[in-house]
Amino acid sequence: MSRAIYPGSFDPVTFGHLDIIERSSKMFDEVIIGVLCNSAKQSLFTVEERVDMIRKMTDKYDNVKVMSFEGLLIDFAKEVDATIIIRGLRAVTDFDYEIQIAQTNKVEYDKLETIFMATSLQYSYLSSTIVREFASYGGDISRFVPEEIVPLVEDKFKK
Ligand code: PNS
Repeated sequence: MSRAIYPGSFDPVTFGHLDIIERSSKMFDEVIIGVLCNSAKQSLFTVEERVDMIRKMTDKYDNVKVMSFEGLLIDFAKEVDATIIIRGLRAVTDFDYEIQIAQTNKVEYDKLETIFMATSLQYSYLSSTIVREFASYGGDISRFVPEEIVPLVEDKFKK
């Protein structure tokens, strides 16, 4: 059985992430969305809020599970018995960072394979950072995130 982890901060989850989730759910028996709980980094949404949002957006997929994790990705992979990591690649600018992480993880845990998926063309510009930036100035983010997520992001900037 193939079990893959799609890890990330998902702060917030975007159409780009959801596209990777849908496509990877067709490629692997089970996909675990690993939501990073990084206490050293200030996030817009708490890890519980991020997990909750992604669960609502992915409950239509029988083989997709959403979990949070803290610490190293390789330890999380060992804990859930997964040997595949999925990461989306938008452009060559992502590559340097992604290859470094993938190779570090491989050196530390040889069983772990990272698979890069090319982001669909219509989402190649999209990132959670862009969504937060746009929303912080009152911009319309409905092209970037599902309609259920729009008010949640907007509310964060009203406070
Ligand atoms: O959505 P992001 O922020 O680009 O995701 C980055 C993530 C969560 C995949 C990466 O930061 C990560 O795996 N963090 C956990 C700590 C770790 O294992 N780092 C990689 C080895 S240095």
